[in-house]
Amino acid sequence: MNRKPPELPDQFFKRQDESGDELFYVHPRFETHIDDSTIDNLTAFYREALKPDDRVLDLMSSWISHLPPEVRYQQVSGLGMNEAELARNERLDDYVVHNLNDEPSLPYEDASFDVVTIVVSVQYLTRPFEVFEEIARVLAPGGRCIVAMSHRLFPTKAVYAFQMLSPEDRCRIVAAYMKNTEQFEETESLDRSPPVGDPLWLVRGHLY
Ligand SMILES: C[S@@+](CC[C@H](N)C(=O)[O-])C[C@H]1O[C@@H](n2cnc3c(N)ncnc32)[C@H](O)[C@@H]1O
Repeated sequence: MNRKPPELPDQFFKRQDESGDELFYVHPRFETHIDDSTIDNLTAFYREALKPDDRVLDLMSSWISHLPPEVRYQQVSGLGMNEAELARNERLDDYVVHNLNDEPSLPYEDASFDVVTIVVSVQYLTRPFEVFEEIARVLAPGGRCIVAMSHRLFPTKAVYAFQMLSPEDRCRIVAAYMKNTEQFEETESLDRSPPVGDPLWLVRGHLY
């Protein structure tokens, strides 16, 4: 099992509200968590980065996946905490309610996706190194992981690292989640922030 590297403080992955995530996500939130201009930039990025024959896993998903509406992908699966949100997400072919902080193992076969996305949610993972090991496992060779971040968060549920570190260091720590698996050939950070609106910082990893 892939654990946190010892040089990173345990405190980085603690949060103010350590109660079960089921409580926090019991009610659906049919809202957007970033500005429309930021969503537009993310959708435009997906238009460049994803291909129609990709099998996509939207981890930490809700009622929207921000995928380009005109593109039909081979498969889009979603995993998140709220059943009503996932049921309303028109992009998902299938979904599962699953708490990654209780159980970092992903309920999917090895090499069953070409792309894994995590949008404005990576800050809620308390066991990220185990989750990213699983992401590497479910990605097929040459697969990509795309983590999209911004500056808004639920402060009681985000781990302290994402509240203390600069945006650059938040990108570095997400790249470290990927590199620590030793399965990603390269990682890159991209700033696709709109001129006006919430920032959009992306970390993309390519599997060997
Ligand atoms: C701010 S919302 C973002 C939702 C969506 N990705 C979007 O772009 O709108 C945070 C999401 O993280 C998911 N999440 C939070 N804690 C989780 C956990 N422990 N396991 C799985 N998903 C979690 C929730 O289901 C929620 O949909």
